Parts: sequence; C-alpha cells; structure tokens
Amino acid sequence: MELNEDLGALFENVDNQPNDERPKVFIETYGCQMNVNDSEVIASILHANGYAIINKLDDADVILINTCSIRENAETRVWGRLDVFKQIKKRKPSVLVGVVGCMAERLKENLIEEQKIVDLVVGPDAYRELPVLIRAAEDGQKGINVLLSREETYGDISPVRLDKNGVSAFVSIMRGCNNMCAYCVVPYVRGGERSRDPKTILREVQELIDAGYREVTLLGQNVDSYHWKHEGLLHHVHYTNFSDLLEMVATLSPNLRVRFSTSHPKDLNDEVLYTMAMYENICNHIHLPVQSGSTRILELMNRGYDRDYYMKRINAIRNIIPDCAISSDFITGFCTETEEDHTQTLTLMEWAKFDFAYMFKYSERPNTKAARSYTDDVAEEVKSRRLTEIIELQGKLSEESKKRDIGKSFEVLIEGESKKSKEEFFGRTSQNKVVVFPRKNHKIGDYVLVEITDCTPATLLGKIVEE
Ligand code: SAH
Ligand code: SF4
Ligand code: F3S
Repeated sequence: MELNEDLGALFENVDNQPNDERPKVFIETYGCQMNVNDSEVIASILHANGYAIINKLDDADVILINTCSIRENAETRVWGRLDVFKQIKKRKPSVLVGVVGCMAERLKENLIEEQKIVDLVVGPDAYRELPVLIRAAEDGQKGINVLLSREETYGDISPVRLDKNGVSAFVSIMRGCNNMCAYCVVPYVRGGERSRDPKTILREVQELIDAGYREVTLLGQNVDSYHWKHEGLLHHVHYTNFSDLLEMVATLSPNLRVRFSTSHPKDLNDEVLYTMAMYENICNHIHLPVQSGSTRILELMNRGYDRDYYMKRINAIRNIIPDCAISSDFITGFCTETEEDHTQTLTLMEWAKFDFAYMFKYSERPNTKAARSYTDDVAEEVKSRRLTEIIELQGKLSEESKKRDIGKSFEVLIEGESKKSKEEFFGRTSQNKVVVFPRKNHKIGDYVLVEITDCTPATLLGKIVEE
C-alpha cells in the first residue's frame, strides 16, 4: 500500500469557507491509504454531527491528526506536528487537539500524559464516538476511546471524499489483519481481520459511479483473504470471496476502473488472476510485497511463503495476465540479515523485474514478535548501505520498465493537470504508470488512448492518439 510518511496529506475540504456557526475541524493524515480513507469516514461522521471540515489549520476549532505507527520515523513526524499544534494552542487555548489512528491505538493514554496539549485519543475502531468525545473535551474532560472491535467496518458510512479530482476513490473492503508478520505493528493497532458486507461495498461504489467517479481502489491489508458469509433461508450458506467481490464491483460499470491493494503472496490465488484477466476494467497491476528474497529471512518474518513460492506466484501472474505490472515492498536489515540474504533480495529483484517498489530500513516496533524474540542486530550503516543498493537497483528496473513502454499505446484515465504545465494532463495506464501528455480537447475523467514517446525517471511521456 502507498505510504505517506513525510507529508501530511492536506485535502481539499468539503466546506471551504463555511459561513455559519458550525465548529470547524481540520484533519491531517499520515500513513497508508487505509488511513486516508479513514479520514474520509471521520469527515463523514463529523459532518453528519454538525461539524464543518476545513483545510486551513489556523481556522480550526478542532485539529485531528490521523497517525501511523508502521516505522519509528512515521511516529517522529507526528511528534513534530504536535509541537506545532502546541504553538497554535498557545495563541488560541480553546483549540482541541485529537490524535487518532494507529499511534493513538499504540500509545493510548500515554499520549495525553506525555503531551499535555492532547485532548482526545481515538483508535481506528472508535470513530463513531468522536462527536461524543469532542463534546466531552469541550467540557474539559480528556476524551479517550481505543477499544478495538471484532465487527466494526463502518460499512454503513459513505465517506466524504476529501480528494480534489473527483475521478478516483478509495473503498475499504476490510479492516485489521490476522497475519502477524514478525516485524509489523498493524495487527496490534488495527485489530483482527474483518470483512465488510459486500452489499455496502457495492452501494458505496454505485454512489461513486453516480457521482462521476471513474476509478475505485479496494483497500485491505490482505485483500485476498476477503471473506463474507451469507446466511440465507433454510440454513443455506454461501460465501463471497475476493474474486467474487472483484467481479461484482467490475460488472457495476464497464467505465469504472477497479484497482486493489494489498495482495499477500501466500493468499493470492489463480481465481483472482483469472477474474482480472476476464474483465478489461480490472486494472493490470498487482502490488505483491515480498519483503525479502531470502527464504531464511522470510521464515523469521513469519510471511508464510518462501522464495520459491513467491517466484511461482509471479510466474502465474505472467502466464495468466501477460501485461500485468507487479510492484513490491522490501525491508532491508531485518534481524540477522547477512550479506548472503541481502544478495538473495537483489537477485530476486533482478529476476522479477519489478515495475515499482517501496523500500524501507527495518525499524523495530515495540511488542511485535521481532521485538520480543529477536535482536535488531544489523548495524544502522549496514541497513542504510543495503537500502541504497536496493533503491539503486530498483531505480534501474523501474526505468527499464518504462522504456519497454516506449512506442506502445495505452488507455489512460485522465486524472488532472500536470504539475508542470496547464497545457498538459496526467493520468495512469492500467499498469498504474503515470503518463503526462498534451491535453488537446479532453477533460479530467476522460479515457484516452496515449502513445508513449519517451520517459523521465518518474513518468512516461506521450501523446493522445486520435481514434
Ligand atoms: N498489509 C500491508 C502492510 C502495510 S505496511 C502489506 O503487506 O503490504 C507497508 C509496508 O511497510 C510493508 O509491506 C513493509 O514492507 C513495511 N513495514 C512494515 N513494518 C515495518 C517495519 N517494522 N520496519 C520497516 N518496514 C516495515
Ligand atoms: Fe503487517 Fe503482515 Fe498484516 Fe501486512 S500482512 S499488515 S505486513 S502483519
Ligand atoms: Fe496504515 Fe500506518 Fe496504520 S501503514 S494501518 S496507518 S500503522
């Protein structure tokens, strides 16, 4: 899943300049796409309870920071922002500051004890309580609710879209994770895995289609284990799995692109691949985090597959969906990682020819299996050097992946104006590669056929092919 560690996503708000007396809430979001979508759920809940959502920090009556705990530096960023909010509170003592999301769940009341300016601490499964907790905080009580739930999916809530393009939206299909990868904090801060009722997913996607959206990304920590049990009359039971759900979403409209994230190598099955191959509008891109190329390290990480199994999944993708892009995540310097293990990662990368990757240095998270049972024994400079090596290699692979596209034509969904020029649009291919091209007479949300003429390190360049 894409991560936003360094920058608080500042959204276009729904009520830019509310000229009424509603209290104003500013939401800043860190972390993965699930957190971005959760902020939209929060906005929806608060909106329904008489709050205006704004995008100017200085005008806020309530500041919410939706946080991430995945690595230490994700948390460091948040501490830095809390210092900034402290200054704001000095100028305007009535402002309420709330920490929500994964760091709220991890640190609980310690957050209030350590940071006197924090008025609210709300975990990922307690957002329905926000209006009550904000009211309590207005009366001077510290509001805290970090209960995790076995059922909460916010299924009935239609998130208020905080993005600005009106073209693509996130739809959470499940919450939590049962996987217990040894390094990972997510199961602790997000709770156990639960799937969302497909009826509510289809309703939400239909609402998006009706509002003009052209792309949805179905979100979950492990979408392949999506699972919903329907109990019908006479004890008739049937299940909706991820492949069924994909098909149901894809058939809502041929003009809707369907993406999803994240797939887990141990659970990605051929049924999903055949469904992807069958529907033109299910995008040909799979994010399949491998973490390491060494079987020994994968075992220590408790990933549930080895190098060979992962390679077989890549072969299956290439056989069933020949033009599918594949991206991945890597962790360097996990406990006991040797040069030999690291070399295994490099050779796997070369073999798989990933189109794109997110790469991280291992960061020990308190209370995880790795923190409890292993020693974080790879020296910082070794972690850094290995990270640099895989970043360099991936840079080369990403560039080669783009160069292979030169001369080919792709259907591109126009998502917005290019940052550099108003005369150009940007959009993505089915394979999730960004393309920049002269706009001609088209508009945002259109599908156009684009011939790739060149590329930069980050993007494809092209021109619209008139049909
Ligand atoms: N279920 C998602 C996990 C999201 S976390 C998935 O499997 O993709 C996104 C990525 O962060 C993980 O894939 C992993 O590469 C990285 N990550 C998780 N915990 C980490 C840690 N303790 N240190 C460094 N990177 C970590
Ligand atoms: Fe973390 Fe593993 Fe679950 Fe992903 S699958 S969220 S890495 S425990
Ligand atoms: Fe996502 Fe970070 Fe939480 S990656 S699930 S916001 S710990």
